[in-house]
Order: sequence, then structure tokens, then C-alpha cells
Amino acid sequence: MGPISPGRRAPRVPGGRELTCRGWEQEGALRCLLNNLDPAVAERPEDLVVYGGHGRAARNWESLHGIVDALERLEDDQTLIVQSGKPVAVLPTHADAPRVLISSGMLVPAWSSWEDFWALEAAGLTMYGQMTAGGWFYIGTQGILGFTYETFRAVAKQHFGGTLEGRRVLTAGLGGMGGAQGLGVALNGGRALIVEVDPQRARRRADAGWVDYVTDDYRSALKALEAPGGPSAIALVANIADVAPRLVREGVEFDVVTDQTAAHDLLHGYVPSGHTPEDAERASADDHAYRAAVRDSLARHVSALVELQARGAIAFEYGNNLRAQARDAGVEGTEALPGFVAAYVRDILASGVGPYRWLALTGDPEDLRRSEDALMDVIGTASLRKWITLARERLPQQGLPARICWLGLGERDAVSRRFNELVAEGQVGPLALGRDHMDPASVASPSRETEGMLDGSDAVADWPILSALLNAAQGASWVAVGNGGGVGIGQSTHSGMVVVADGSERAARKIDRVFWTDPGLGVARYADAGYAPAIAKAQETRLDLPSRNGNQEQT
Ligand SMILES: NC(=O)c1ccc[n+]([C@@H]2O[C@H](COP(=O)([O-])OP(=O)(O)OC[C@H]3O[C@@H](n4cnc5c(N)ncnc54)[C@H](O)[C@@H]3O)[C@@H](O)[C@H]2O)c1
Repeated sequence: MGPISPGRRAPRVPGGRELTCRGWEQEGALRCLLNNLDPAVAERPEDLVVYGGHGRAARNWESLHGIVDALERLEDDQTLIVQSGKPVAVLPTHADAPRVLISSGMLVPAWSSWEDFWALEAAGLTMYGQMTAGGWFYIGTQGILGFTYETFRAVAKQHFGGTLEGRRVLTAGLGGMGGAQGLGVALNGGRALIVEVDPQRARRRADAGWVDYVTDDYRSALKALEAPGGPSAIALVANIADVAPRLVREGVEFDVVTDQTAAHDLLHGYVPSGHTPEDAERASADDHAYRAAVRDSLARHVSALVELQARGAIAFEYGNNLRAQARDAGVEGTEALPGFVAAYVRDILASGVGPYRWLALTGDPEDLRRSEDALMDVIGTASLRKWITLARERLPQQGLPARICWLGLGERDAVSRRFNELVAEGQVGPLALGRDHMDPASVASPSRETEGMLDGSDAVADWPILSALLNAAQGASWVAVGNGGGVGIGQSTHSGMVVVADGSERAARKIDRVFWTDPGLGVARYADAGYAPAIAKAQETRLDLPSRNGNQEQT
């Protein structure tokens, strides 16, 4: 697992409008990095693990302190280079260049397997950065709620007449991302049984209001699920590999079944039956008996999901590479499970829209509130207003105040510009503006975001690389590329960026450039693949797409 020296704590996130670095871009990077590791945000900060199995923010403690030191002394015309969580160089660049460039877990394609990765990680040479863990822009479970809510909304629309009212959902995993499932289902009117093997994670989600009821008793959980007017999101502390087959044996019916254990990482992310989360944490790649136990549990679990689907439940893979892992473990019938993006989220991405997010660097919740008001003034749609109202009422704050919402080309630049003006006017402190790596152009992930693309370009990874190059050229404050986010090493390539809005002219320049071309590439990616909404958006916004002009039309 590499020299992590567990048990230490990251420095606290500096607050307020005073700088500890030499400029706000450096300060923004520092605060976002430390926010990733805030105990209220990270799943296991003592191991530098932010979320998603072993998604880390820095390679080890020495690297973390090295990054913090480098950011504190970084000048406005220098760039810090971070190689898989380790600060390797501070190079002379220029003020409009990024302040930090990050690459995490990238391997030569033929070596891009978990086995090779684990060997290199054990040698201290690389780090798994998930998406926004290594990219320093994780904002806690609220960051994924937009996706989760939209997924269950689409499930409701496609299969249940627009609501999950009276519907029962079975899933597992209450980690950094999976923790949003209960609320995602509840906000669509349904009720969820979420099986979580780690009592501390279940308790943590309950304390923060993401689930309504926690029990380790199977019968009590079912009783709560069946009680009229009972809790909407029920956490059952147990192993899904035991619970799912039992539900099948007892003929308990569900309308929707899925899973968000960290099954993309079968060494540390999926706890086999009869084992504890601590066993998974300590597991060694050489322990063949343990790895056989994982495969056996996964096979029983996914076979039960396939059986529930055969009995009429709507079933789908929720972004954790479950199908391929189960297929490798000998489970048949997994091809009948669609991926959640292909089945439910594609239409959003195909119009070039994705999850924009921003964060109040001062830590002042009023900065978030005022910027949300400004967002609603600039965009002003009823759906956005509804989302912000709901988020304000229901979403617990984790770490620095942050929000996420769906925006596309022509919206992100307008909103970001307005945010920078607010900072310039002194109405709010500096903000960090960016997006998830799960955006239209910024990820290639054939069993998730790019599954079943119209033109068959699922595994083509040029787009996320082009996205990172473009954002670096446009001078985003920091740009990150990574391997394996969501679905595991070798299964995805992705990139992210953040621009710090400090109210300056330079920030305005960066915002104008980045927040037009970044979503512009998203539209180009989907237009190139032949998606009508993206083609229409490209025409409406007069994007110059040479290969779609004149006689070179393709569909
Ligand atoms: N759906 C999305 O939009 C999305 C986004 C990012 C990541 N992901 C993927 O979803 C998965 C979950 O992400 P996360 O950030 O919540 O991961 P995480 O590591 O924070 O949490 C996983 C949870 O699963 C639990 N678990 C593991 N094995 C179990 C078992 N056998 N029975 C019951 N519970 C078990 C763990 O105790 C843990 O709480 C990952 O594979 C991640 O890559 C999905």
C-alpha cells in the first residue's frame, strides 16, 4: 500500500480573506487540497483517502507537506508539477499559465492493470487519485447528489410514470459517493434499503442526514421498509453478499436494484462476507485466499441482483465496474444490466451539459448564499431555482461551503463571470470554480460515461487529454488528469480543472477563456459522435467544428 504512515492529520484549511500563499490561485489550490482531507469531507483522512475506495489527495504525508510548502512559496509566474500525488518540480512559467499541473495514476496502456498498479504503488511510485481526490476538487457527498438525483429521476420517468412514490430500491455502499443514494431516492418519492458493511460509515451518513434510520437487524430493516409512512432511506449494517441472496430466497420484492460498493477495487474496496472493513484495508495482493473470498462474495451478490432483475426489478450498474468484475468472477447474465450513464444520464451529457461546481474559499456560508442568488439571477430557470432551494434545505454542509448544478455552453462562462464580479465588488470572498471529471468531453470510460456511444468511440481517450491540454493552454488555475476514476485502473481516463475567481482582471481573462472552451469541447465531442442535441447546440452557439461542416457531415 505504500509508505502512508497512518494516523496523522492534515493541516486545517485556512479560512477568511487573509492569504497564507503569495496569490489567490495558489491559496485556492491549497485550500481545496486541504478541504479534500478535512475530516468532515474525506472518508479516511488519516490514510489520505478522500473517497472512492483508495482515492487519495497526496501520495504520502511527506508529499502532502511538500505540496503545502511549495504552494505557500509559489510565485505568480511559477507552476508546481504534481506526479501522482508527489510534488516533483516548481518551474518558471507565466502569470496566465496554470499554477498547478497534476497527473495521477497514469500508466502506459499495456501496464494499465490493477496488478501492475499495486506493484508500483507498493514501491511508492504512484497513487490512485480517483477523479477529484487527486484533482483537489472533491466537495463531499453533496458533489454527487446532482447525478444521483437525476439518475433516479430518469429511472422514475422511464419506468414508473415520473415518480418513485411507493417504489422500493435495494442498493449497497454508503461511502463518499454512495452516501447520496438514500437522499437521491427519497427526493424522487421512493424508499431505499442501503446495505453497508461498515457501521461507522452508516452512522456518519445518518448523523449528517443522508439516511433516516440505521439498524444492524435484517428483520427490523425490512419492517421499516414496509411500514406505511416509515423512513425513506434505511441503512442496514450488513454485508450485501449475505443480504442480497437472502432477499432472493425469501422472495422480498424490489422495484429497482443497483450497487455502490467500491467494487472497482477488489483488493480494498469490496469487503467479502465474513470479513471486516479493516481486513479489506489491510489486504495484500498476494493473499490468494482473501482474493478468492472477494470473488465468491461478489458472485453471490451480483447473481442475486441478476435474479431480482429476472423477477421484474429495474437493475443497473452504478458506475463501479460491477458487471465486468462479476463476469470475471464467473457470474452469467450481467450483460442484461445497463450502465447508469448509458441508460439514464446520456441525454444530459449529449447536449453538452455537465456538473459545474463552485466552492467558497473563505469558508463563509454567506459567500455561497450570495453566489447562489447571483446564479439564479443569471440563469433564472425554474428547475435551477428548485434545485438551489432544495439543496439549501436538505444538503448538509461538508467542509468549505460548495454547490453543484447542471450547466452547459453559454451558461458556465456567464455565471463564472458574474461570480468574479461579485468578488471584485467585495460582496463575496474568492471562489473556486470548476467541474467534476464526469463532464461531456473530459472522460473516456467505456463502462460508464462513454458506454454505448452512438459512433462506437467508447474507448477513445483523446478527448479527456485534449480537454486537459486545452484547459492548461487557457490558463485554468489547476488542471488534473487521471487514470481509473470511478471504474478502476485501466478502465477510464479523465481530466478536471479549477479557476480561482479572486475578482482580478487576470481571473476574468482566465474565466472568459476556460468556461467557454471547456464546455465547447464537450459539445464538440458529442457533436462529433453524432448526437443531435450537441449538433443543435453547436449551430446555435456558432461553434466552428471543421469536420462537421459542408460535405464532411457524419452521423
Ligand atoms: N455513481 C457515481 O456517480 C459514481 C461517482 C464516482 C464514483 N463511483 C464509484 O462508486 C463506488 C462507490 O464510491 P464511494 O466514493 O462511495 O466509495 P467508498 O470507498 O467511499 O465507499 C464504498 C462503501 O462500500 C462499502 N462496502 C464495501 N463492500 C461492501 C459489501 N460487501 N457490503 C456492503 N457494503 C460494502 C464500504 O464499507 C464503503 O462504505 C466506487 O466504485 C466509485 O468508484 C460512482
